[in-house]
Amino acid sequence: MDQLKDKLRSNNVNKLDYQLSLEDMPTQWFNFFPHLPKPLPPVRDNGKRSTLEISQLIRPKILLEQNAPKENWIDIPEEVINKLIMCGRPTPLRRALSLEKHLKTPARIYFKREDTMATGSFKLSTAVAQAYYAKQEGREILISETGAGQWGMSVALVSQMFGLDARIFMARCSLEQKPYRQHYMKMLGCEVYPSPSTKTECGKELLLQTPGHPGSIGSAISEAIENALDTPGSAYLSGSNVNHVHLHQTLLGLEVKQQLSMAGESNVDHLVACVSGGSNLCGFMMPFLPEKNSGAKIDMLGVESTASPRLTQGTYEYCRSDVAGYTPEVLSHSMGESYIPAPVHVGGLRNHNSSPLVSLLCREGILRAEALDEFNAFKAGQIMLKTEGILVAPESSHAVAAAIDLAEKARIENKESVIVFLASGNGFLDLQGYNDVLNN
Ligand SMILES: Cc1ncc(COP(=O)(O)O)c(C=O)c1O
Repeated sequence: MDQLKDKLRSNNVNKLDYQLSLEDMPTQWFNFFPHLPKPLPPVRDNGKRSTLEISQLIRPKILLEQNAPKENWIDIPEEVINKLIMCGRPTPLRRALSLEKHLKTPARIYFKREDTMATGSFKLSTAVAQAYYAKQEGREILISETGAGQWGMSVALVSQMFGLDARIFMARCSLEQKPYRQHYMKMLGCEVYPSPSTKTECGKELLLQTPGHPGSIGSAISEAIENALDTPGSAYLSGSNVNHVHLHQTLLGLEVKQQLSMAGESNVDHLVACVSGGSNLCGFMMPFLPEKNSGAKIDMLGVESTASPRLTQGTYEYCRSDVAGYTPEVLSHSMGESYIPAPVHVGGLRNHNSSPLVSLLCREGILRAEALDEFNAFKAGQIMLKTEGILVAPESSHAVAAAIDLAEKARIENKESVIVFLASGNGFLDLQGYNDVLNN
C-alpha cells in the first residue's frame, strides 16, 4: 500500500479514483440541442401505419417531449436520482497509471468506470428514468429489445425496482453466445425471447425469409414494438438511438467534467467512446460541446465495429432503426435496413444505423470515427485487464484500443495529452467471446 502511495506521489497524482460526493452528483440532464451546429433533420413518417402514432401509443408521453426539450437543463425527478444512487451513480473516474506506464507514454489517461454500475454497464442511467415515467403513466409491463444483453439486464432490474413486469427480445446470436445475461434477466422475473422469434408476425417473417437468421438489434426492435402494440398496458423502452436516451446519458459527461477538475485537469485533448446507436458516446461527449464550440481543441472519437461500419463506410440516408417498419425514417449513417451484421461477440455494436445525432456530429466534423475488428479490440481489452486489472465489455474494448493508439502517438510526439475514454461496461459475462476470439 505504501508503495502505491509513493508511486502516486512521485507521479504527482492524488488519487487513482476521482469520486463525486452525493452532494455533487448532477441533478439535471443537459440539453445539448442548442449547442449543435444545426438542427437535426426532420423525421419522415412513411410507414404502412403512422410511425409517429405508434410512438405515441407505446412510449410514455414525457419521453417523447424529452426528444426535443424546451429547457436548457431538465430536472431529474427525485425518485430517479435515488434509484440511480442505488444503481451505482455517480461512477468513478480512474487515472490509468499502470496503462500509462506500460505504454511509456507522457499522456495522462483517464477512464470513466461505467463497468461499476449494478448491471455492469452505463445502460441503467436511462433505464431508471424510462421505467419511472412508464410507472407514472400507470403502465405495467416494460417491453424492449437488447443486443448483447446489457440493456436487457438493465430493463429487467429496473422493472423490479418499480414493481413492473418486463419482456425482452434479445438478438438470437448474442443470446446463444452470452446465456448468462438471459439467466440474470429471468432471475428478475423477466420474459426473454430470442429474436427473430415465433412470438411476433415480423419475427416469423424474418425466419421465413432467412432461416437460421442470427438476429440483430434491428430485428429485436421490430419484435419488441410489435409486441408492445399487442400488449395493453405496456410501455416500449429504447436502449439507444433516440434523443431522450442520449439526454439521460448526459449524466456521464457531466460527472466526468467535475471529476477532471478534481484531478486538476483544465483541458482535455481526446474523448474516446465506442459507438453503435450512440448513447454512451453522446452522453459522455455532449456536455463538452459548449467548450468545443468556444474553441477548445477537443478531439471526439467514436469507435465502431467492422461488423457494422456505418459511420466509416455506410451511407447517409433516410432509414429506419428497425427492420419491419415500425420506427420513423431518420437521416442517419446506415448500412441499410436489410443488412445483417456478422454474429460477432460485440453484440452491442451491431446496429445497422447510428442515431441521427451521432450521424449529424460526424457529418459536421465534430466527431471522428474509426472502425475496428473484434480481434484487435479484444487484444486491447486484454492489455487493459493485464495493466489496470479491469475486464471491460467487448464494446468498451474498442474505446480502449483507440485510447492506446492515441497514447502511443503522444509518446512518439512526446506530448502530455489528456485522454479520457469511456469504459461503458464490464466483460465478465463476455469471457466466452474473449476466449473464442483470442485463443482460436
Ligand atoms: C457495454 C456497452 N457499450 C456500448 C454499447 C453501445 O451502445 P450505444 O452506441 O448506444 O452507446 C452497448 C450496447 O449494447 C453496450 O452494451
